[in-house]
Amino acid sequence: MKQSIEELKQLIDRLEKEHVLSKEEFITLIDNPVPELSEYLFEKARGIRREHYGTDVYLRGLIEFTNYCKNDCYYCGIRRSNRNASRYRLTKDQILACCKEGYGLGYRTFVLQGGEDGYYSDEVLTDIIRDIKIRYPDCALTLSVGERSYESYLAFYEAGADRYLLRHETADQVHYGKLHPPALTLDTRKQCLMELKEIGYQVGSGFMVGSPGQTSGHLAEDLLFLHALQPQMVGIGPFIAHHDTPFAAEENGTADLTLFLLGLIRLMLPAVLLPATTALGTIDPAGRDKGILAGANVVMPNLSPREVRNKYLLYDNKICTGDEAAECRHDIDSRIRSLGYQVVVDRGDFKQITGGKKDVSCEINQSRRIYQP
Ligand code: 5AD
Repeated sequence: MKQSIEELKQLIDRLEKEHVLSKEEFITLIDNPVPELSEYLFEKARGIRREHYGTDVYLRGLIEFTNYCKNDCYYCGIRRSNRNASRYRLTKDQILACCKEGYGLGYRTFVLQGGEDGYYSDEVLTDIIRDIKIRYPDCALTLSVGERSYESYLAFYEAGADRYLLRHETADQVHYGKLHPPALTLDTRKQCLMELKEIGYQVGSGFMVGSPGQTSGHLAEDLLFLHALQPQMVGIGPFIAHHDTPFAAEENGTADLTLFLLGLIRLMLPAVLLPATTALGTIDPAGRDKGILAGANVVMPNLSPREVRNKYLLYDNKICTGDEAAECRHDIDSRIRSLGYQVVVDRGDFKQITGGKKDVSCEINQSRRIYQP
């Protein structure tokens, strides 16, 4: 059935009011991301992000500390079977040096992201977490190291980790099986997310847009899954083929659909921390700017040592991997300003609004200033 633009706008109005739609209604919107509707959505998304976070944009310093991975996800360039990947691991000293550089540049969140690498046992990783938190007690520490046991998650939390990113990738069981080998299951992924929440992490999930075999029905399920999970952070980006994977010849996702979904997510989860991701900036040079204008409020520049940046290649043509990466930080700053927003020196915690009053319990009490290069 063909909906009029007015009917589509009414769906968006209802999403803004009620924060959820039925699967069929989400599908209707996702199937019709026409420019007029997108503009209507993005304006609302910007209004809502402004209510919660003003015009502040939060930075996360991404430290890609290992590209070894025991998993073999069909989409990912650092999958175990990719013999052409040049593998590296960072030492604790190297990681601390990244934090030091980042702190000086105004970063107050560090994200330790890596493949599922057994070298970083609970002992090794908790030691790194503890040292970062001792040196930078005013910073938040986010982990993104995949599926681990409840005991590991608890040990990391007790060592000082504040947040955890684990994308669900797709909320459809059958589709999950098309993106991952049988050793990985959606049930385990969901279980991990539940455990992380229960322990007390600020949790992030998310998915790729336009991954092979994905339908608008799958995307609607992804949105409903996120609605049920109520994560504090959501990361989405377009699927981008990597030449050394089984998906080398698959079509990439689009910036337009990713932006549309960012807008929908902002309406569904008004206070969510929502990054304009590197993948979005890779598929479209203006992608991250457009992401901010579609309701995103976080950017995650690369803080990894220069010599390893071009090795953490999850997909082809990833931006900010070479010598120009150092400038990324300043470039991002002036671009954000030109959009009418400003990068702030702040942990950038999730802000919960309860009963019309702002609950600032998870905001750290510290002086906050606008970043000055
Ligand atoms: N294209 C886009 N995103 C990818 N990721 C992994 N491989 C790709 C790819 N080829 C994303 C996954 C993962 C995150 C760290 O990067 O969603 O969770």
